[in-house]
Amino acid sequence: MKKVLTILLTFVTGVSLFADEGMWLPSLIGQRISDMQEKGFRLTAEDIYNINEASLKDAVVLFGRGCTGELVSSEGLLLTNHHCGYSQIQKHSSVEHDYLKDGFWAMSREEELPNKGLTVSFLERMEDVTPIILKGYETGMTEARRTELVKKNSKALIEEVTAPGKGLRATVEALYYGNQYFLFLYREYSDVRLVGAPPSSVGKFGGETDNWMWPRHTGDFSIFRIYADKDNNPAQYSADNVPYRPKRYLKISTKGVREGDFTFIYGFPGRTQEYIHSEGVRYIEEISDPHKIGLRTLRLEIMNRHMGQSQKVRIQYSSKKAGVANAWKKWQGEMKGLKKMKTVSVKQEYEKAFDRWAQGGEFDGVVGKLNATYKELEPYSFATDYVNETVRTIEVANFASSIAKLFKKEGKTVSFDAEKASELTGTFFKDYYQPIDQESFAAVMDEYDINVPEEFKPEYFRKEMKKYGSTEKWADALFGKTIFTDRSKVEKLIADAADPKKAPKAFKTVYSDPATVFNGEFMEWYVKDIRPVVTRLNADLQLTYRDYMRGQMVYSRTQRIAKDFYPDANLTLRVAYGHIKGYSPCDAVYYRPSSTMKGIIQKDNPEIFDYNIPQRLRDIYASRDFGPWTDESGEVPVCFIATNHTTGGNSGSPVMNADGELIGLNFDRVWEGTMSDLVFDPEICRNIALDIRYVLFIIDKLAGADHLLEEMGVTYKIQN
Ligand code: ARG
Ligand code: GLU
Repeated sequence: MKKVLTILLTFVTGVSLFADEGMWLPSLIGQRISDMQEKGFRLTAEDIYNINEASLKDAVVLFGRGCTGELVSSEGLLLTNHHCGYSQIQKHSSVEHDYLKDGFWAMSREEELPNKGLTVSFLERMEDVTPIILKGYETGMTEARRTELVKKNSKALIEEVTAPGKGLRATVEALYYGNQYFLFLYREYSDVRLVGAPPSSVGKFGGETDNWMWPRHTGDFSIFRIYADKDNNPAQYSADNVPYRPKRYLKISTKGVREGDFTFIYGFPGRTQEYIHSEGVRYIEEISDPHKIGLRTLRLEIMNRHMGQSQKVRIQYSSKKAGVANAWKKWQGEMKGLKKMKTVSVKQEYEKAFDRWAQGGEFDGVVGKLNATYKELEPYSFATDYVNETVRTIEVANFASSIAKLFKKEGKTVSFDAEKASELTGTFFKDYYQPIDQESFAAVMDEYDINVPEEFKPEYFRKEMKKYGSTEKWADALFGKTIFTDRSKVEKLIADAADPKKAPKAFKTVYSDPATVFNGEFMEWYVKDIRPVVTRLNADLQLTYRDYMRGQMVYSRTQRIAKDFYPDANLTLRVAYGHIKGYSPCDAVYYRPSSTMKGIIQKDNPEIFDYNIPQRLRDIYASRDFGPWTDESGEVPVCFIATNHTTGGNSGSPVMNADGELIGLNFDRVWEGTMSDLVFDPEICRNIALDIRYVLFIIDKLAGADHLLEEMGVTYKIQN
């Protein structure tokens, strides 16, 4: 272990030759700080991360399960993206109160809306705990036993550091494929209320058309407030809770951005695989991405058709569709980027050279082993991708099986969690439209039939196909017979199941329902025949990658290949830094790094849903009533791009200037650069941020929520 750490340290301290690539651990940022300062940063490592005093890290939170947010006032006010708060905004919306369409602004604290299940987590501290986690490890231990050991030691450590009742939550995360382990200790707050959101025509301006694209004009922000108990500690929602007082919140800068300016991002990037073997890339580029894209294209066409015909359906499926469309478009950019960068063959060359170098030494055969394991894994990965993108996307089947799971059977007595069932039922039917689900079933299961090899079709699937002849007929039968598309039938069932005398019969009804059976049969087969192989081979990969990762570091050092190593993203807090910069997506085109409201007006079109802005915004633009929120040309800036290395999870992350002041909110990447999860191209890879001045402009001019500007300390009106 000692040896590994020394190597890691040598490498992270190395001079940066690969401008702007990398997602760095805040607690080790001291190793990058001179590079950051050389590039323009004016603060110190302690300003970024410090466990003894308030530092910038205390103003950043993990928002929900996959976004970032930042504190902007002394009373717990928090900014994140509109798309991060989207499902909350959507849940509070109905045809009568359509906050998605009209926006929402709490004009007083009483009007702020609580959100069940939403949490935000502050990182208290992070720490290298490798020796503790690997205590008891002996060379030659199987990967399964090692995993068990890591689990056991992690659990003990987590218990030790999380005193109950304080809202503490801890995780132990593997870095560099388990060459290193870090403890992350969080304080988690669960009373988080919605304060404001612009209408979707601002917050989601450009919709799926502009998603992942530059030039961009999306006002992708929403505002929440964290509440705590009287002692500022985490507490469940209560009317008695008070606004949380943060250790640190961000100062907002309205000075604006210029090409070349230093920027850095603090946030929770989800997943990257920068050190992946060529076979892993080939699978993604040539097989996984194209198939998943194809399946989602079918589902999107079905959704779009129905959403275009009814406002109700449009509201019901807006959040679901955004989820489906998002990865769908990203994968398209990723495929294109990987192809353009010839990542597979570049990696193959590298692997060949590595392999020659490794011969006879510790890393001999590592590359070949990865290659062989990937080959063996491929059909199983393919089946897994298909199950995920077909079977698991059938809404009614997911609903049926989650109701089924609420039964408990002990001997002959059957009990049932009716309360939970009613809650699930309410949520499900609020946003369910059977024709979409049924048509999707027929479409995706047909693809399953065509593309998945016979040996990866469960017996059940083959029987049903034989019985019905086509997936449409199968869908007709399944959706015709299931009770789970009919709210009154489900409610009756819940009432029966809650009655001990009728429960056994209700149990039978649910478990023999075709929707439950569909999910159950597929999952049973998957868990029995597919998952064990996937798990075993992934463990093999993991083990080999651990060596390969270390090997790549040794190889680079001994062969003097300049390369900075940073741990792959794993939804832990990271710092990325770079600068504001345009790019050239293709010959003869250069994109400047900032967009303004002028572009919104150019795109504005009442006929096109994605580009139909509120009339009020048109009026404001026409009267040029911009307040102080303008750039040097007198326009209101909207978005900008920079070279910070980010990924999914970085949404909502604060983009800061050289002085650590908030200049924007990260919300996207340019789609030509989405291969940066696997390989970073400084020429093309750009993150997209919302300019903070547009946020302030919208709050001021569109919402008239002056009290929020005042709270954030941008009080131009007060001074007037
Ligand atoms: N592409 C951004 C991200 O990956 C934004 C997604 C939400 N926006 C949308 N139009 N679907 O999360
Ligand atoms: N929109 C992404 C998110 O939700 C960020 C874009 C990206 O993948 O970089 O985290």
